[in-house]
Formats: sequence, structure tokens, C-alpha cells
Amino acid sequence: MDRSPSEPREGSPAAMSDRPTELSFPDAPHLVVPPPGPKSRELLDRQALLESPSVVYPRHFPIAIARARGSTLEDVDGNRFIDWVAGICVLNLGHGHPRVRAAVERQLDRIWHALELPTEARIDFLEALLPRLPGELKDRAKVLFTVTGGDAVETAVSIADHLKGRRGTIVFSGAYHGVHGGAVNLTSGKRYHKTSSFRGGALVRVPYPDPYRPLLDADGSAQGTVRYLEHLLSDPHSGVDEVSSILVEPILGEGGYVLPPPDFLPSLRELCDRHDLLLIVDEVQTGLGRTGKRWAIEHAGVSPDLLCSAKSIGGGLPLSLVAYRPDLGPELPPGFHLGTFRGNPLALAAGTEVLRELDDGGWIARAAHRGPKLLEEFRQLVAHDGTIGEVRGRGFMIGLECVKERTHRVPFGERARSMRRELLSRGVLMHTCGGYDHVLRFMAPLTIEDRLLERGLEAFSDALGPSSAPSAVARPKGPRTLRAEGAEVTPVHSGFGGPEPIPPGLPFRHP
Ligand SMILES: Cc1ncc(COP(=O)(O)O)c(C=O)c1O
Repeated sequence: MDRSPSEPREGSPAAMSDRPTELSFPDAPHLVVPPPGPKSRELLDRQALLESPSVVYPRHFPIAIARARGSTLEDVDGNRFIDWVAGICVLNLGHGHPRVRAAVERQLDRIWHALELPTEARIDFLEALLPRLPGELKDRAKVLFTVTGGDAVETAVSIADHLKGRRGTIVFSGAYHGVHGGAVNLTSGKRYHKTSSFRGGALVRVPYPDPYRPLLDADGSAQGTVRYLEHLLSDPHSGVDEVSSILVEPILGEGGYVLPPPDFLPSLRELCDRHDLLLIVDEVQTGLGRTGKRWAIEHAGVSPDLLCSAKSIGGGLPLSLVAYRPDLGPELPPGFHLGTFRGNPLALAAGTEVLRELDDGGWIARAAHRGPKLLEEFRQLVAHDGTIGEVRGRGFMIGLECVKERTHRVPFGERARSMRRELLSRGVLMHTCGGYDHVLRFMAPLTIEDRLLERGLEAFSDALGPSSAPSAVARPKGPRTLRAEGAEVTPVHSGFGGPEPIPPGLPFRHP
């Protein structure tokens, strides 16, 4: 069995220090040419010729990448950027972590593909994972490997239906659970539905309680939402047929980094117990230390029946899984779920070291310790900026919601997108999320050096522009502008024919 501290070690070196070991290019951000430089433009143009215009990231971040290290990226023109995107929460340990890399290199000499046959890589991974699962899943869950996050989530729903012998799940508005196959139905955005030919499924959609935009809950609690759910489940005229489960993100990811009221997740657990439903928690984005605990559900002290993990679990290689309680229903028959690439040995070898390093390096504890300070720093920076309505978050998952003004809170997607462009021109990658693409989100690797956090905040402050004019105290010291001489801010060349945002009617933001 793997040596496995059940909690992040508060006293570990990285947790105690604001200066973790240097993993990144030390001089970032460093711009030698306004991005995109000539070499980036050339590759972007060639990509546009060869690849479907459905790609989105080259529109958001029009640079061609040469290499990456830690929390930094270098483009083909030699520009070095601070990475606050981390592959959308895939790289919680940053790019090319030496321990993960060494594990993959060792595995390269053994076997790269083994179907579901046991390998040391597979068993080591499972033995590292099980003691690290939350609540009742710890040490007793069964694990089913999948490949992507969407794959994991739709499989979890099918497992819940199987265990309960009923079909149907309660899902939330603002949810993002993937776009392929069944997952697209669990996702709430209409733009994703429009491009899928596989719509269907037994679903009941309920508003996710958003304290900044309350719908059913006016008092900062989730009790209105809970009463509504109770009505759906117990009133014979609610129109809802039987369901097997509730599927929830402990913090809304793509939906805008929304933290639900503290009573929400415990109330869902109680509802599930009262109505004999299974609680499925989607930790694809929130898991693996992102929020300052290994699993975000642990903040609520709630034990899920099924847990989906993907993104960071493979350290950058494709790996996902469902962990479920096998004692809650009949066993899954052989072949319940299939897929050639599930549990790839290289990804498993990487994943084992991700799990271990998150603990051994103290990175989860660091996110717990540094995250609140960072939240406060962002709050101070935007204190006088009327276009940032709220700054919220947990650990290294921080959202800044852009609004036209603070009273009516009309979402302001263009402000978030222009901040993304301004930051890129200053050498920092920061992405957006939310239903209107109106939430700026910080999701840097948990391993990011403090110096890079400071420089990133400096660039952020600069990018806010004169209207924000935060107090001198709040602004980090240092040069006032990091933008490369002559940098164009808008429009941004993407290689796909011009400035963003682009295609009306097509999904524009894909995580
Ligand atoms: C919470 C959540 N679930 C599921 C998914 C889908 O994961 P994938 O893109 O690997 O299918 C995502 C992707 O962003 C996500 O954030």
C-alpha cells in the first residue's frame, strides 16, 4: 500500500515557505516581440489552413508554444509567459514536473499500452489513489478508468442508474460536464447542445445556488434551492419521474467559479439520504488540491457516493476515472463500460507521482495557505474598478466577475476578454469562464513561485487600466508596464482570420 497522509501536511516545506523550489523560467514574463511574433503568426496561419476552425484556444491565446516549464511557457519567438491557466486545471504541479517526468520516462522502458491487463503502473496508481479518496470512498471504492472528464461523468451517471435500478439524474444550471456523447446533455450551455447530435437523457435541471445572483435563495443560504428540490422529489405532481442521483460540481467551474452557500452540499447529502439517491461529485476541475484540499467536497465535510476525476490526475497525460461505492447496488457486469485507451500506463505512472507529490511537496497546503492571501490581493487591486463586481474563490481557484456596473450586475464579457488580451500582451495567460464569458479566472499551477504571482499581479493591475486606480497601497511595487514596446492589444491575430470573439452561433469558449 502506498504511503498516504490522509490530509495535506501543513508543516511541509512548500506549505511553510512562500518560495517553493524554482520550477519555472526565472525571467518570465519576458517579451522580446509583441505577441504574436512572426514565428507564432506563421504557425497560427499554418494551423488555420490545416485544422478545423472549431479550435478555440488559438483565438484566446494567439501564440505558438515552443516549450514550457513549471508555471511558465515560451513561445516560438522566444517570449516567456506566466501561465495562470495551467491547461485549465490540468497542470496542478505545473509543466514538466521533474518527479512526474521521471516516472513517465521509467514507464517508457516498460510498456505504453496494456488494455486493462494488470501492470505495476496500474496497481501502484490504484494503491496511491484509494487511501486519498474522500469520505466513505476512502480505501473501499471501486475504480473504473475512463479517458476524459466528460467520459468519467457520463459513466458515473450510468453507474448510479445501474446501482439504483432507476434512470435519471438531477443536474444544475451553469454546469459543465463535457460535450461528447451523453456528457453534453449534463452540461447546461445551449451553445454546446446546438452542435451535438446526441441530445437526450433523463435529466432534471435545477438552478445552482449563486450567492452573487440569487434565484431561489435570497438569504445567502441554499435553503430555497433545497426546498425546490424537496418539492421535485416528494410532490406527486412535481412532474419529475424517479431519478437515481444528483450530479454536482462542488464549485461551478466553467459556469463562473461560483462558490455555493456553505449549507448547499451538506443539504444535497441529506436530500440524497432521505430520497434514496446517490450523490455524484464532479471533481474534474476542482480536484487534486486546486481548492486547498485534495477534493473540494472535503471543505463541506460531505461524503460522495461517486466521484469523477480527470484533468490534473494524469499530470498532463489523458487519464480519468470514476470512484464509486460498490456496496450501494448490484455489481457492474463485465464490459459495463469499454474503451481502448482507459488507464493508459504512461498516464497512470504520471498520476501516481501527481498524487504523491501533491502531498510530499506540500502543494495542497500551499494552495490553502496562499489562496486566501491571493484572493485579498485581487480584491484590493479591483477595489475601485466598477467593472469587477465580485472576487471569490477557494485556494487556487479564483474568479473575478466582470459587470457593466456593480448595482445591476449585468455580465460584461467584453471586459473579461479585453483583460485577457491585455494580460497576454503583458506576458500573462489568464482565461475566462461563465455563461457570458464574463468571469476572469485564476487557476495557476499550485507550484507557482511567489515571485511569479507578484509579477502576474503587477501585470494584472496594469492591465486594469486607469479607470480602476486602486490605492497606492494595493498596487504591487515595480515597473508600471510590462507590455512589450509597440504591442498591439486589439485586434489579436489568431491565424483563424482576425480578432476574437468569432463565430456567431458556434461554441466560442471550450475548456
Ligand atoms: C467540472 C468539469 N467536468 C467535466 C469536464 C469535461 O472534461 P473533458 O474536457 O476532459 O471532457 C470539465 C472540463 O472542463 C469540467 O470542468
